[in-house]
Amino acid sequence: MDKFVIHGGKPLRGKVRVNGSKNSALPILIATLLTDETCVIDNVPNLRDIRTTYKLLEELGKKITVKGKTVRIEYHRKLKTKAPYDLVKQMRASILVAGPLLARFGKARVSLPGGCAIGLRPIDIHSKAFEALGAETANAGGDLLYTAKKIRSGKVTFRFASVGATENVMTLAAATPGEITIENAAREPEIEDLADFLNKMGATVTGAGTRRIRIRGAETLAGVRHTVIADRIETGTLLLACGATGGKLTLAGAVPDHLEAVIESLKKSGAEVKTVKGGLEICAPLRPRPVSIRTKVHPGFPTDLQAPWMAYMCRAKGKSRVNESIFERRYLHAAELGRLGARIRVDGPNAVVDGVPILQGATIMASDIRAGAALIIAGLSAQGVTEIHRVYHIDRGYERIERKLRSVGARIRRVAA
Ligand code: UD1
Repeated sequence: MDKFVIHGGKPLRGKVRVNGSKNSALPILIATLLTDETCVIDNVPNLRDIRTTYKLLEELGKKITVKGKTVRIEYHRKLKTKAPYDLVKQMRASILVAGPLLARFGKARVSLPGGCAIGLRPIDIHSKAFEALGAETANAGGDLLYTAKKIRSGKVTFRFASVGATENVMTLAAATPGEITIENAAREPEIEDLADFLNKMGATVTGAGTRRIRIRGAETLAGVRHTVIADRIETGTLLLACGATGGKLTLAGAVPDHLEAVIESLKKSGAEVKTVKGGLEICAPLRPRPVSIRTKVHPGFPTDLQAPWMAYMCRAKGKSRVNESIFERRYLHAAELGRLGARIRVDGPNAVVDGVPILQGATIMASDIRAGAALIIAGLSAQGVTEIHRVYHIDRGYERIERKLRSVGARIRRVAA
């Protein structure tokens, strides 16, 4: 298992290009199950969850050809309707195959994703929505089996604006003739990207980016070409890495509109963040002012940047608070940051970070994708050497982040253990 070795304390300076969005690419790649025609997807990052998605699509019957950042998805054989446990357990987003398969074949069998390090993550919102549209849910030997003779038109109202459930209902509806409305839909930019893709394929999706999405489905959908949007979470991670080291960075390809809450908080903390042609620029002070955050659904502060934000606040000039309102146990990074000398107190969904002038390098361990990113940020701003273990968590969501960081001056290397 690889580890990262970081010699911290060096400000990041220079220019990097932001990758395509993992969380956009995943549902779009999976939505190619809606057609037997060829789809070509551009700007797809090369990271572990994406490679798991290729395996999943191949297992279901697609042929995948990857050339750089462009992926071609073709018909290979008649699709299977079962997503196997060994792939689903690696990546919860595998549940997104349910929508397209149920729409096309009237059944989908997906292993229960189970819990994960950041919380229980049930899928009741997906199941209830499918049931409201005429499907039945059964538990078959640890698998979830969705079946439907006919998906009906109508309205589903989510108790919570789940990103995955919104995507699953959108793809189900896209290949179902008639109109389906989602109330209290997720409004993340990735939802709009999926809507653009489904519209190109021949569905009519309106309202993506608002609380109410209407989908008018088509009997058959066409193969199309699509470019994935920039990764707002990678953008935020790089902004905070720069912030934590007091550096100056230009992020080419970043979309400021997708990160308003984060940019506002960064500005409050004393960083200068500017929109420049084709991206964003940040110039950060040596130590930030303390700024409290509360994670919320988009356009609120994204839960995926909560851990990186906490790492940024570790060296703030005072106390800040964090309230995590999306996932119930997303503070595993706090204890690891403590090993570097950070002063963090966690109490249920709340945390208080008492900023210290200096973090000291130590050996620490990543527990999930974004907690891992937070540890890198802290390691970059700490004095001395930090070793981060279980880098495979970070590789699930970031494409060779150490290379990108090295290109702007960070002293970080990957060591194969
Ligand atoms: C997506 C993102 C993930 C991000 C999350 C929240 C992808 C591949 N992943 O995950 O990076 O952290 O949005 O912005 O896009 N919930 C239920 N029942 C359900 C579904 C969700 O209780 O049926 C709960 C979850 O346990 C969690 C919250 O709702 O507490 C948010 O989940 P959801 O929005 O569904 O996140 P994902 O789509 O899994």
